Amino acid sequence: MTENNNRDIPKDTMIEMIKVGRNYPPDIQALSDISLTIETGEMFFLIGKSGAGKTTLLKLICNMEMPSNGLIEVAGYNINTLKGKDLALLRQRIGVAYQDFKLLGDRTVAENIAISMEVSYKKSRAIKHRVRDLLDQLQLSDKHDILTGELSRGEQQRVALARAVANSPRLILVDEPTGNLDASTTEQVMELLNRSNKAGATIVIATHDASIYQGSNNRIMELQNGKIHSVTRGNS
Ligand SMILES: Nc1ncnc2c1ncn2[C@@H]1O[C@H](COP(=O)(O)OP(=O)(O)OP(=O)(O)O)[C@@H](O)[C@H]1O
Ligand SMILES: [Mg+2]
Repeated sequence: MTENNNRDIPKDTMIEMIKVGRNYPPDIQALSDISLTIETGEMFFLIGKSGAGKTTLLKLICNMEMPSNGLIEVAGYNINTLKGKDLALLRQRIGVAYQDFKLLGDRTVAENIAISMEVSYKKSRAIKHRVRDLLDQLQLSDKHDILTGELSRGEQQRVALARAVANSPRLILVDEPTGNLDASTTEQVMELLNRSNKAGATIVIATHDASIYQGSNNRIMELQNGKIHSVTRGNS
């Protein structure tokens, strides 16, 4: 990136949102008045009832949606005014596991996971090694060459997560990472995210699954009707 256009943003801030809102026509206020700072290296949980605005907030952070008002900075860059190569470079540093997965159903598991690494010109041997390692961690080794369209939802969910973390992004956004998983697979998913977090990644997780944030000391923000209801910590 050519220059940091917001030099007053401290280096230890990964996400800064100031009075952010997002409306959908005709009159849906999916988010309003969201002011929030997420530190670099934090694991941050986003909770709230269905329709509260969790997915919308994640989409704003990765520039998949534009805010209707307010300011969003990621790693010190205004993500809504960055353009061209600078925006592409910042996006490469953000890994996203979508709630609806967005996998390429006619490509294999390995091909789906490799995509983010290929886009950033990683060597083929490194990609193969990383893909096998992630599949191993997520108990999916036997699915390497299967088309993702043929997987169960729980398997697809883990492939989406593997794709999001494969290129070791600085920021990882995960939307309902454990919604279709049993307790032991949930634990493996959280181990993988914890490892990425220990390696320095900032992680934002939207979830309905209290088991993954209770008992941790991470911050938990609850959205209610598109507004911040509370920010607390787990009870460890
Ligand atoms: N593209 C869209 N067009 C119109 N309304 C939308 C759109 N996306 C989201 N909404 C609305 O915005 C609100 C917030 O939706 P969002 O998907 O962010 O909720 P959520 O907290 O992620 O819910 P869930 O827990 O069910 O995933 C909802 O009322 C939803 O219907
Ligand atoms: Mg959602």
